[in-house]
This record gives sequence, C-alpha cells and structure tokens, in this order.
Amino acid sequence: MYMWFTYMDKMTIRDIEVSGKRVLVRVDFNVPLDDKTGVITDDSRIRATLPTIESLIDQGAKVILGSHLGRPKGKVVDKLRLASVAQHLSQILRQPVEATRDCIGPEVERSVASLKNGDVLLLENLRFHSDEERGSTAFAQALARLADIYVNDAFGTSHRAHASIVGITRYLPAVAGLLLEKELDALGSILKSPSHPFALLLGGAKVSDKVGMLDNIIDKVDCIMVGGGMAATFLKAKSYEVGLSLLEDSLETAAEIIKKAVRNGVQLLLPDDVVVTDKISAQVKIQTVSVENIPPDNRIVDIGALTISTFTRELERSKTVFWNGPMGIYEIPRFAEGTKAMARILANLNATTIVGGGSTAELVTEMKLTDKMTFVSTGGGASLRFLSGEALPGVEALLDKNEYD
Ligand code: 3PG
Ligand code: MG
Repeated sequence: MYMWFTYMDKMTIRDIEVSGKRVLVRVDFNVPLDDKTGVITDDSRIRATLPTIESLIDQGAKVILGSHLGRPKGKVVDKLRLASVAQHLSQILRQPVEATRDCIGPEVERSVASLKNGDVLLLENLRFHSDEERGSTAFAQALARLADIYVNDAFGTSHRAHASIVGITRYLPAVAGLLLEKELDALGSILKSPSHPFALLLGGAKVSDKVGMLDNIIDKVDCIMVGGGMAATFLKAKSYEVGLSLLEDSLETAAEIIKKAVRNGVQLLLPDDVVVTDKISAQVKIQTVSVENIPPDNRIVDIGALTISTFTRELERSKTVFWNGPMGIYEIPRFAEGTKAMARILANLNATTIVGGGSTAELVTEMKLTDKMTFVSTGGGASLRFLSGEALPGVEALLDKNEYD
C-alpha cells in the first residue's frame, strides 16, 4: 500500500450529487484493436474507468459515455465504431450498454431521454465529427445538451483541448472521474516526493517526445537509462557510428540533455552493447555488438545482454522508477528481449514503479505484470505532458474544489 500525495485540487464525482441526473462521462476507450478481426486486444482502458462508471450506476445516475477511437479525422469509419466496445463493456458490467449511431442529434437525444436511473449508454465515436478536434462551440453545446453534469475520466486525452474535453465544460458543471484523479495523484507523487534513488528508464523512437519531461524532472532524478530507437540519437551525439539506425533531427537536443545530466550530477546510462540486423524482419540474422562496432549497413533493434545487466543493477538499487518506451522493436519477438527483461525486473523491484501509457503499458498488460507495478498509466502522450510540468487543458477546465456550492 502506497500513500499518494494528493495532487488534485479539482472536484470529483465524490463531491457532487448525481442521483437521477444525466451524467456525461468523457472516457478514453481508444483501445488497441486487432488489425484483421477488429477484436479489442487490450481492454485496460475500459477496465480502468469501471470505478467511476460503477459508482455513478450505484448512485442512480443516468450514465452517458463518450469517447474517441483511433483517428478517423472527421469521417465515419465503420471499423472505428464503438458498438463492439459497448458490447464488451456490457459483458464486464453485466448490464446492457446501448450504443448510439451518432454522438449528437435528435436521435441521440431520444435515447438519452429514455434512460432510467442506473442505465448506461455509449455515444458513437466523437471523432466522426471534425468539430470534436477543432473544439467547435456548436458541437460542445450539442454534447452538453445531452446531460446535466460532465465528468472527465479520459486522462489519456486530457492533453487535447477538444470539444468533449474542454469546450463542454463551459456549459455544464464539470468534475473529475476517479481514474483521472488516480492518474494525477500517482504521476504527481513522482514529481512531488520521489524516494531516491529515482531512475528514469526511457525508450521508444523519439527523443523529442521526452524532452519536455526531461527538462522538468532532470533535477529530481538520480539516473537516466536510455534504450530503444532514441538511444541511437544519444549514441550519435556522443560520436558513435550507429549504421542505418533511424536518427531523429534531435542530435543537438540529445547533446543538450547529456550536458544537463552532467551539470545536475545525474548518471546517464546509454547501451554498451546492442542487437543489430540488416533487415527488420522476423527471420533475419541478428548479432549483438558493442556500440563501438555497429556495422555501417546494420541498424539497432534492441539492447544487448551486457546493457540488460547494467540497467538491471541500476534498477535494483532504485527506490522510484518511471518507465516509458520499449528498449527495441518489441513487436517482433526476437527484438523484444530487452524490453521484456526490463518489464520483469521492474515487476520484481521493491520500489515505486510507474509505467507510462501507450505501448509500454500494453506490453506490461500482455505480460500480465500490471498488478506487480505500483501504477500503470492509461495515458501515453498525456502522462509525458503532465510530467513535463505543463497544465493539461482537460484538467484545468474542471471546477476547483472551492468553486462550487
Ligand atoms: C491516446 O491513445 O494517445 C489517446 O487516446 C489520445 O489519442 P490521440 O493521440 O489520437 O489524440
Ligand atoms: Mg496519442
């Protein structure tokens, strides 16, 4: 049991009366789907909102859920309809969940009007309307007409100033759901009071995604370990040849981070050895080489065994670890060894272990290690934005604790 510092100064569903009210809950049901079958491959984001949904049902609210799925860019894309998500949720809740064919308009209003206390309805994909991402006032008003109260439980989308995240809060009393609260408390705790040594384990393709976060917390951490695609950029910044590894336009940024780490007395660990190949496919020949000997026609696809043990040693002496980003091209099993090893080590640490969302979270779920981590975030981009110290528009827009009586 861990004690979080409460970061939230926003009202939550605990602070309001919802019985008999129509409550529109913005959730992030942007779940991964199998390319061929359309089956949900990881339902963590759905399950993570259950405390909010069940609490509203128990209190007799009429629950209207709204979400996006994928990036349909303002068009109706049948594969991105939310009907199968409604069906999945209905099985988990053991009660019917009606899926509407649109998210606004007279037909939806009729469905909402027929809801009884404790009923649940899921609106069609909000992003079928380009007005959602544009943050259109008329669209926000059309959504607001459906409800008496607005709840944001979509932590993963709270860095977007979209109509269903920000616009709608101008027209309805707007409070946080329990998942949003939990995310902010968990991530807030590592900004406020991390136990030391505090280590960052970073991977994934892009350095640019993580710069803001590094800037904000580099003076709080003791060690930064870098693997994945972004390690190539760091290695190159230190004048290693990285063959055909994809380099971002961030060499200077990486050089800057290296300097900042030195200035702040932060240990920056880059791979000593890497797995390389000349083709990205499951069958090719792979080899592990020292970072000094990366063949010019090869590219980095994973961290090597020596690096795994160096990172392991560092992780084992850490008291707080934040992990974001795979150590290699983990979608191909042969290049997933480093990432999987890190997941297993984190799962067994006697430390506060926080996993950023996105692909890292999906992998942890797939390995059935979620319960062994202190917290696995449901937000990828949102958690990085939060840790970069920037306000999340979707959180800012909610009522402050002392604002509503
Ligand atoms: C996510 O998965 O990152 C969130 O659901 C937000 O989606 P977006 O990145 O397409 O805005
Ligand atoms: Mg995203």
